[in-house]
Amino acid sequence: MENNGEPPAIIEFDDMILPPFPPLLEDAKKRFQEMRNLECRKDDVILATYPKSGTHWVWEIVCMLLKNKAEYSKETKEFLFLEAVPDISIVDNVSSPRPLNTHAPYRWLPKQHIENGGKIIHVLRNPKDVVVSLYHHFDNAKEFGEVPYFKTFCENMYNGSGQVMGGWFAYEKEFEQAEANDTCSAIFTVQYESLKKNTIQEINRLARYLDVDVNDEVVTEIADKCSFKKLKEANATLKDHSNVSKLHPKAEQFALKVYRKGEIGDWKNHFTVAMNEQFDSKFQEEMKDSKIRVQYE
Ligand code: A3P
Repeated sequence: MENNGEPPAIIEFDDMILPPFPPLLEDAKKRFQEMRNLECRKDDVILATYPKSGTHWVWEIVCMLLKNKAEYSKETKEFLFLEAVPDISIVDNVSSPRPLNTHAPYRWLPKQHIENGGKIIHVLRNPKDVVVSLYHHFDNAKEFGEVPYFKTFCENMYNGSGQVMGGWFAYEKEFEQAEANDTCSAIFTVQYESLKKNTIQEINRLARYLDVDVNDEVVTEIADKCSFKKLKEANATLKDHSNVSKLHPKAEQFALKVYRKGEIGDWKNHFTVAMNEQFDSKFQEEMKDSKIRVQYE
């Protein structure tokens, strides 16, 4: 899908701007319905995140915990990326427990999984770092369309147009409401910043949630192997990216760039004082009824 001067395809569905994955380009509604109606197993684990919240990182930790072994999976998380796999029935052939993952908002998560009280791991990252990470992600893909200056990019992201997956505010508020009201679901939230600051403690919390009896030595090894530097290296050297290539001819190039900086607070290198004030007031307005407390540093 080279960009021959044509504007990039924009896929809009159910108040979301979607990435140009083949199944979404073909029929986004169909794929979202397939996800919603996915036949689930009781021990499935769904990793549900807003893009750029640390999905790859947590996916790798979850895979290691499910194996009770600090061993990288050869696959990348994309092989169980529900909105992007070429055919959703692919997941039927994967042995249990399946670490499924998606950026779809809560209302589109598999209904049966929610009714089963299945495990849902949600990663929350501060939205200033999310928008910086997303900006660089798009900037890596600028051959598909012009990326505006960071200031305009942010304003678009927070004030209306260009709301990837419906926007951070809507996505996180919907999750918060589901956690409060949905009696069936068993949502576990991990904050990117807590995982970064207290890695061992947070991995232990994840293990308890997953009912994995893991010893301290394995937890320490998982933390080490999933550190930014080591995971970045493993991604470049050990992973089979063939599933990623199926998502998009250029997807592998982005997959290698997912591991960009991996820090808390890179937003300070991108936001001016004025932009920060504007963002804070937008956050207050949007999240006035929310109990979500994000960590900016
Ligand atoms: P940055 O762009 O700020 O570096 P996702 O996997 O949801 O696309 O999120 C990608 C973000 O998670 C990127 O953020 C990436 O660097 C960061 N990330 C990936 N692995 C990480 C790790 N082991 N530790 C900390 N951050 C990590």
